[in-house]
Amino acid sequence: MKNPLEILNVDLGERSYPIYIGQGALGEQLILEKYIDSSQVLIVTNETIAPLYLSKFVDQFPERLDVKTSILPDGEIYKTLETLNKIFDALLESRCNRQVTLIALGGGVIGDMTGFAAACYQRGVNFIQIPTTLLSQVDSSVGGKTGVNHRLGKNMIGAFYQPKCVLIDTTVLSTLPDRELSAGLAEVIKYGAICDRQFFEWLEQNMESLLLRDNAALTYAIKTSCKKKAEVVAKDEKESGIRATLNFGHTFGHAIETQMGYGQWLHGEAVAVGMCMAADFSEKLTWLSPEDNARIRALCLKAKLPVMKPQAMVAEDFIKHMKVDKKNVSASIRLILLKTLGEARIYDCTDVALLNEVINRQDQVPS
Ligand code: NAD
Ligand code: GLY
Repeated sequence: MKNPLEILNVDLGERSYPIYIGQGALGEQLILEKYIDSSQVLIVTNETIAPLYLSKFVDQFPERLDVKTSILPDGEIYKTLETLNKIFDALLESRCNRQVTLIALGGGVIGDMTGFAAACYQRGVNFIQIPTTLLSQVDSSVGGKTGVNHRLGKNMIGAFYQPKCVLIDTTVLSTLPDRELSAGLAEVIKYGAICDRQFFEWLEQNMESLLLRDNAALTYAIKTSCKKKAEVVAKDEKESGIRATLNFGHTFGHAIETQMGYGQWLHGEAVAVGMCMAADFSEKLTWLSPEDNARIRALCLKAKLPVMKPQAMVAEDFIKHMKVDKKNVSASIRLILLKTLGEARIYDCTDVALLNEVINRQDQVPS
């Protein structure tokens, strides 16, 4: 017998919404319909996901709904204003009105773009997240950050715009490439490192099961991650404080993604290296112990993630990009560091020499 879906809530007053998690959630048409406003629905997905899941998903909608699809090219490189226009083309060509519901069926790229399209179309329409990668299930589908990249900076154009619900089907992870699974695990490790030492220890003990895609282990990791994220977002939706801690590893990571060319390094891979760099910085300040720093590196390696910066990148490359990070206040570079394993702190860095030293240390640390 199928287990019932687990339900978490993101508490944001009148914009609160549920996260449904479980095997077969994609087929829970009756749940989905509760969050569809009118007869118009546009499902946004990409060329990789469409052949795997789209027709079965579309077929379950009742005839009274007018369901259209928009199939975008696949890849971080297409997370642009130009591709966003394809969603607007589909909406306008189908004469979609303000009551239309946009459904994002895909990973973080599709979720971020569909959410941004929903925020902009006719100044805001209904939107549902159906994340299909581990990374999007544990992070990007929850919390309402939407947007696209600019050639000069990652996610630089966007909006905070919350979905009406998030539907997470763990069975779709069976088709996810191994490299993408590992990339998602980087964001899972992040939650343990920044706010839950026990969860970090659980990950140390259960990484093999996660890599083998054991459903119980994956469901537990997804549920715990979503719970952590929902708690933080409920406290600080627009990132004026604690939400910034969710960017542990991201300041260094975004620099890698931008410098290396979008899509060359997966977001989760860049975040893994970024977490190791932020942990090194935390150790340098004598916050994080050398032993706990080594555990972060070891867990990333266990998850089959990179822990060393791209050889082609030097400290100046990082600093150039880190200076245009959205978190920065005045002239300093805002970093998320670890006071200890399981506790993050915001740190405004003005000592570029120290930052240089930490980045260069990467050339000496064996992986
Ligand atoms: P992605 O969306 O590019 O998906 C990764 C790859 O997996 C793609 O090729 C995709 O087509 C494929 N795929 C998706 N689901 C699949 C499935 N079930 N089976 C087989 N293949 C599948 O990448 P991602 O890692 O999901 O997301 C990364 C993006 O998310 C980045 O753009 C990042 O900036 C963004 N992000 C946003 C937030 C946020 O809060 N909004 C948080 C973290 C990351
Ligand atoms: N991924 C960071 C955030 O949602 O705030």
